[in-house]
Amino acid sequence: MTLDAETAEHLAAQPKIELHHHIEGAAPPGFIRDLAARKGLDLSNIFTPDGRYSYRGFLQFLDVYEAATAPLTSPEDYAALTRAVLDEAARANVIYLETFISPAFCGGGDVAAWNDYLAALEEAARSVPEVTLRGIVTAVRHFGPEAAQQAATCAQASAGDFIVGFGMGGDENAGLFRDFAPAYDAAREAGLHLTAHAGEWGGPDAVRDAITHLKVARIGHGVRAIEDPALVRELAASDVVLEVCPGSNIALGVYPDLAAHPIARLRAAGVRVTVSTDDPPFFDTTMTREHQRLADTFGWGPADFAALTRTALDAAFCDAPTKAALETQLETKDV
Ligand code: ADE
Ligand code: ZN
Repeated sequence: MTLDAETAEHLAAQPKIELHHHIEGAAPPGFIRDLAARKGLDLSNIFTPDGRYSYRGFLQFLDVYEAATAPLTSPEDYAALTRAVLDEAARANVIYLETFISPAFCGGGDVAAWNDYLAALEEAARSVPEVTLRGIVTAVRHFGPEAAQQAATCAQASAGDFIVGFGMGGDENAGLFRDFAPAYDAAREAGLHLTAHAGEWGGPDAVRDAITHLKVARIGHGVRAIEDPALVRELAASDVVLEVCPGSNIALGVYPDLAAHPIARLRAAGVRVTVSTDDPPFFDTTMTREHQRLADTFGWGPADFAALTRTALDAAFCDAPTKAALETQLETKDV
């Protein structure tokens, strides 16, 4: 990196808003390793000798992600995870974070168990007041439409101040978007805001399908829209916001490096883009590192990141009073 120290520090100190983040994917590897050891689980096959998560390619990443959730078996485990994750976010000066939380991993789709997990998680979030946390209930696509429906039932039961959205991650090539429309319809009826991973492994048609069939306001990734100039123009003319995770795309091999990544081209074309980490320790990243690498590659400065953060605030799924409070924080902390 050729970024000068002063700019790097300036970017580190800027307040940030992150919209695309998976709570289990943010688990520090040491946290999972220690928890597994305490529970007598052998997870040595998912770590490198120097203690990082070990995977090759997207499908193995999904396997390792799921394996790493094995020791997370109780609300108390998720409370401890939440504290660890928020401490890390606070270090990057993230003031607002929306994290994906999956009922499949938190109680196996049972509504009462899910509510216990959420209560523990919310209580833990209160112990890190530097970061305002909100949850997006998430279906895992390769678990199928029936599990997505269970996730939607949990979402309906918990929609409110803390649970503000419904989304779907997992293997984008499993099933069709329209298979998940009933789950999304249920979430929408519960007043939840909607997002879906699309255009990460699928091409531009996946982005179109997510918008058409699931009626999402935001797209997780969406970067492969760049392959269709007409879609880029449509996105630029719409209110749809992309949750772009450049470090994730490079670590998983969607693009070879940041110079080849379309975020700058999408932004220049008028598409509303935001920046997130996705699963930070898996991709050796933080929000500060994402901003610093973008600055280094595309010459963006603090004013560009302040504008991206405004877009993120605008696209956040929280209620108006929370947005107003965040706006005040941005005004007082912006550097
Ligand atoms: N779950 C966690 N990270 C993901 C990603 N990058 N794509 C799809 N599903 C995910
Ligand atoms: Zn993701």
